[in-house]
Amino acid sequence: MVKITGSKFDMYDENDTKAVTFRNCVDGILENGEVSSLGGYKHHHFTTRLQHSLNVSYYSYCLCRKLGWDFRSAARAGLMHDLYFFENTSVDENGQKLLKSHPFRALENSERIFELNEIEKDAIVNHMWPCISLSRPRYKESMVVSFSDKFCAVIEATLGASLFAARKSSAAANSIASGISDAYVQTKETSLYMLRSIRGTAANVIRLACSFII
Ligand SMILES: [Fe+2]
Ligand SMILES: [Fe+2]
Repeated sequence: MVKITGSKFDMYDENDTKAVTFRNCVDGILENGEVSSLGGYKHHHFTTRLQHSLNVSYYSYCLCRKLGWDFRSAARAGLMHDLYFFENTSVDENGQKLLKSHPFRALENSERIFELNEIEKDAIVNHMWPCISLSRPRYKESMVVSFSDKFCAVIEATLGASLFAARKSSAAANSIASGISDAYVQTKETSLYMLRSIRGTAANVIRLACSFII
């Protein structure tokens, strides 16, 4: 099951109208091989670019649906907004970070693979506004995608860091527990050895004493 970070939403629940509508909006994009390959890129330290794109798509969809805006374009643009195929740390031959131009690469790739409307193009190319963009997003749906992108970055980093810390604490607790268990086994074995020695010595003393008496 595909999960949305920070939500219990199940997009494959056939009895949930919201889920069925969302799937219809992103139909053909999510199944595309190039989009699926985003699952192989690490994003925001703790997640993949595919998961992040799906999160942005879902939250943009929810907000626009709630406000009565074009939720289909928002959901589609959210899923395509980071459609680029290089690591976030990659640099060009001049040492310039490729990430700086990623909204433009994402638009190029999206236009090459899919048919886009004006809202979707604007939402993709200006999603990094006010950091990297041609201009301020021109449509309210584009603004929602830009907002959802920042919102998702925060929840992905926060939840990812919390899970990482919880896993580390659990490993440390297991290691301490196993240390205590090892110490207990060793102490028990040493005590048994000492008891056996004392018992053997006592038996020898009694045997010796009896040989003197009898
Ligand atoms: Fe981006
Ligand atoms: Fe993004």
